[in-house]
Parts: sequence; structure tokens; C-alpha cells
Amino acid sequence: MPEASSPIGGTAAPAPRVFSGIQPTADSFHLGNYLGALRQWVSLQDSHEAFYCVVDLHAITVEHDPAVLRRRTKVAIAQLFAMGVDPERATVFAQSHVPEHAELAWVLGCLTGFGEAGRMTQFKDKSSKQGSAGTSVGLFTYPILQAADILLYTPEPGPDEQALRVPVGEDQRQHLELTRTLAGRFNHRFGTTFVEPEAYIPAGAAKITDLQEPTAKMSKSASSPQGIVDVLEEPGPMRKKIMRAVTDTGTEVVYDEEKKAGVTNLLRIYSALEGTAIGDLETRYAGAGYGQFKKDLAQLVLDTFTPIRERTLELLGDEAELDRLLARGAERASRVAVRTMETVRDRVGFVGRGH
Ligand code: TYM
Repeated sequence: MPEASSPIGGTAAPAPRVFSGIQPTADSFHLGNYLGALRQWVSLQDSHEAFYCVVDLHAITVEHDPAVLRRRTKVAIAQLFAMGVDPERATVFAQSHVPEHAELAWVLGCLTGFGEAGRMTQFKDKSSKQGSAGTSVGLFTYPILQAADILLYTPEPGPDEQALRVPVGEDQRQHLELTRTLAGRFNHRFGTTFVEPEAYIPAGAAKITDLQEPTAKMSKSASSPQGIVDVLEEPGPMRKKIMRAVTDTGTEVVYDEEKKAGVTNLLRIYSALEGTAIGDLETRYAGAGYGQFKKDLAQLVLDTFTPIRERTLELLGDEAELDRLLARGAERASRVAVRTMETVRDRVGFVGRGH
């Protein structure tokens, strides 16, 4: 495969790559997205050639309103920049701007077993909630499109191949496994084309749970408003939600996944945000009770998200600039995606167009 040029320009030695995606399916990202994935997007852009995608094609696998999708896509992009994803260093783009995503998904879909796709737990969860009449074929093939997203940005395979890392939360592990399987299958049938991607899942913050139902994942589709902390939330409600987070009848701030799921979730959040070991937090709050612990945690969350909210609003004030950045991201992403797709078409046996 031809070597992809660096999106920053120049012909520097290839760096490992990072690719990740997020759906524009809510008015704000949430604390789980931030700790499970987005923080890592920001840190990895320093050491990797980074591609970050707002996956609007995935967002239409469930019923949606076009105007709302358009607005949420812009808000998603603005939040990424506000969190510190740097449009100079990272390629940030909308999935629908690069049609190769859908094209590669078709090819990979033809390599995926029906039963294999049916075993995806996220599909089973979501489709059981939608009922069979409301479940689209797009929802079924969703993980195949995700595999295509990732594999389009494969580094060149070979003895000196670079890694392809995918920063995600725990809930995406199975989709990453499928992606690796499909990459291996394609390589086996048609010749080595793809590097198998590695999931990059943070220890400790890979599954942030719902503040009201601390055994369930914090989720934009399943959590109640009280269970979820939005990045763009106003300070007052944000503080209240944390103060009202479900704990238990005890008083000790100690980590115990089985008996104290609520406190354990709050400890994980605290530890990840402040960079303090959980054991040190237990010592700090020994005998202090839940009230003080939650109060300090609420302040920490506010201190983290307030600047992001303010910057997001500022960026949304200049839509023309956001559109310009998106267009530039699409152009850089296309440079890589078009080349990968040329190789794929050739390997699969499609006839060239003669130029
Ligand atoms: P999405 O949009 O649901 O979530 C975006 C990212 O946030 C992580 N996440 C969490 N992490 C910890 N705790 C939580 N409670 C929590 N909730 C969400 C997710 O794991 C994810 O990393 N299928 C993907 C989007 C996607 C994608 C891709 C990701 C499409 N193509 C290619 C990586 C690579 C999804 O639905 O993420």
C-alpha cells in the first residue's frame, strides 16, 4: 500500500496511529465519555498521528431528527476542540464527509458471518430495547462500519509496521475484537493489507457507572438525567447530581465493587480526575463521611468541565470557523482513506477505472 503522508505535512518517519470515534447522539458528551475515551484522545495526539471522527453515519442507526443531528454534530466537534484536541496536530472530521467509510463497511460486511454479527452484545441490548420493528439493519451492521472506520486508517503493514491504537471505554472491547478478526480475515484472503488495531482502554475509568444506578453504565441512551453528568451541564445542577449520587447506608469512603458500587464509582471518578490513587483517597476521607467527599468531588468535576463548557460556547459562536476546520479535517482524512480504499478495491478484485 502506498505510504500515507503525514496529515501535518512533510515526510517525517511514520508515527504510530490512533483512531477513535464518538457518536453525536446527545446534546453533550458525558463524564463516562470523557474519562473512558476523550481524555486519552487529547493525550495520545502528542505521540501519535491522530484521527478523530464524529460518527454521524452511526448516529442514524436509530431514529433521529435531521436538524438535531446537524446541531449535535457541530456541538460534538466544538467540545472536542474545547477539551484540547488540537486541529493542528490531530485530524478531526465528520464520518459522512469521507464516503470511503461506507464503502469499506460494505466490503467488510461481505466477510462477516450473520451469526458473528448477531453475537455483538451492544446490538442485543439496543435491539431488545427498540423491539424488532424498530431495529434497523443499520443497527445490526453498526460494528462492521466501526471496523471500517478504524481499518481505513491502518498504517502500512510489514516488518516495521506502526501500531494502530483505538482509545475507547470497556463497552467497545467486543467491537474492537471483531475489527481485529475482520482485519485478519481480509489479510488472509486477499493479502496483508491491514495492521490489526489494539484497543487502548484506560485502567480504572473504563466503565463509569450511572450515579443513580451504580451497577449500570453511565449512558446517553439509557441513563436518567439524574444518573448522568454532562460535560456542558450548568454548575448548579452538576453539583446537585453529584451530591445526590446513590451511595449506601454506611459512612466509610472505601472501595468495594460488590458492597459499595456507588462509592466505588465516585472513587474511580475522583481518582481519574485528580490523578490520585484510590488508596490515598480512602486515607484522606477516613472518618470524613460521604458529604465532604461528594462536595470535594463536585468541585473537582466543576473545575474540569467549566472551562470546557465556556470554550465550547465560544467555539459555537463562530460556525464558519468550525466548518472550515471540519472541511480541513475531511480533506486530511480523505488523503489516507482514499489510498487505503484503492488498495482494498484492487485486492478484492474490482476492475480499475483505467486511470
Ligand atoms: P459512544 O459514542 O457510545 O461513546 C464514545 C466513547 O465513550 C466511551 N464511553 C464510556 N467510557 C467509560 N464509561 C462510560 N460510562 C462510557 N460511556 C461511553 C465509549 O467506550 C467510547 O469510547 N461505537 C462507538 C463509536 C465508534 C467508534 C468507532 C469508536 C464508531 N466508530 C471507531 C472507536 C473507533 C460508540 O458508540 O461510542
